Amino acid sequence: MHVIHVVGARPNFMKVAPVLRALNTRKGVRQTVVHTGQHYDANMSDVFFRQLGIPAPDVNLAVGSGSHAQQTAEIMTRFEPIVLDRQPDIVFVYGDVNSTVAAALVCSKLQIRVGHVEAGLRSFDRSMPEEINRIVTDQLSDMLFTPSEDGDANLEREGIAKEKIHLVGNVMIDSLVRLLPEAMKYGRNGFPERYALVTLHRPSNVDDAETFSSILRSLMDVSNDLAVLFPAHPRTRQRLAAFGMNTRQLQVLDPVPYVEFLSLQRNATVVITDSGGIQEETTYLGVPCLTLRSNTERPVTVSQGTNILVGQDAAKLRSELTMILQGNAKRGAIPPLWDGRAAERIARVLLN
Ligand code: UD1
Repeated sequence: MHVIHVVGARPNFMKVAPVLRALNTRKGVRQTVVHTGQHYDANMSDVFFRQLGIPAPDVNLAVGSGSHAQQTAEIMTRFEPIVLDRQPDIVFVYGDVNSTVAAALVCSKLQIRVGHVEAGLRSFDRSMPEEINRIVTDQLSDMLFTPSEDGDANLEREGIAKEKIHLVGNVMIDSLVRLLPEAMKYGRNGFPERYALVTLHRPSNVDDAETFSSILRSLMDVSNDLAVLFPAHPRTRQRLAAFGMNTRQLQVLDPVPYVEFLSLQRNATVVITDSGGIQEETTYLGVPCLTLRSNTERPVTVSQGTNILVGQDAAKLRSELTMILQGNAKRGAIPPLWDGRAAERIARVLLN
């Protein structure tokens, strides 16, 4: 069986790594890795391949940045000949980025089977580009691998046949479980005893000057209580520069490699983020997470984990932070099947 894995953006890399490993040990499986080049900076891509032990991509489509339409179209145009040439039995796509939906569209028209890893997540907010990518990818997929039961329910509600849906657990947690011991070796690595770890990159938070400055004011307020470490995504960096924003009290850093970032999360007093994956990683690690969004496609992190949605409400951020600093942080549990074995389950389903 020939499997092509398509990845393109930072959050894809920790998801493909365990699936590649699990299928590597299976007889008769041949694997090809296609990198779309959606993320191309060394610190957004290469270092993740290295740390996660992903082999160098067999093909790099090198599409780079652009508008959503440009980027999606470019991936489709460059990926189609690869699929035609290599004739895979199935193409695996990951998460909800533009690379995911672009590859799924190409394959569905060529009648090549699509497996979607991390299917069924829904924020029910169509102003999020990722929500559009999730809905379309799931409709086009033949095998849908879900991380939690809410995913199954969402898919069934959208009319996806039950036989296509496979509850396997969270592959991103597979990578976390494997590399956490490595991360623990970093210790505090020169970082302060107590700190808030911040990441922000959602267009809805950083693309509008007024919204972004109000969030930065809240973070300045946080920095009166504890150090704020802020590894900035390229999009966020661009906006900070374009809007000429004041970040004096914050420690703005370059994007941090996977293992170092795990260590930063593990040791943080609180994580403040608008990322999807980080809501899950903090839930697994039992670290308090305040999410600067009003909804989440990962509701188990709120119902079972340590995640709290604070939206753009500065007063709520302040009051939740006070609770955490007083030692009254919300306690959480690890959701079922977030156990480091999700990719094994995917391999089993695929080969059956
Ligand atoms: C993408 C995903 C988002 C994911 C995020 C993680 C989509 C729709 N969005 O958003 O779901 O959470 O990745 O990082 O696919 N840039 C660089 N260097 C890079 C990559 C990007 O400078 O290596 C710059 C680009 O110039 C671009 C901006 O960052 O202007 C945004 O990149 P893009 O891939 O369009 O979307 P992300 O915001 O990264």
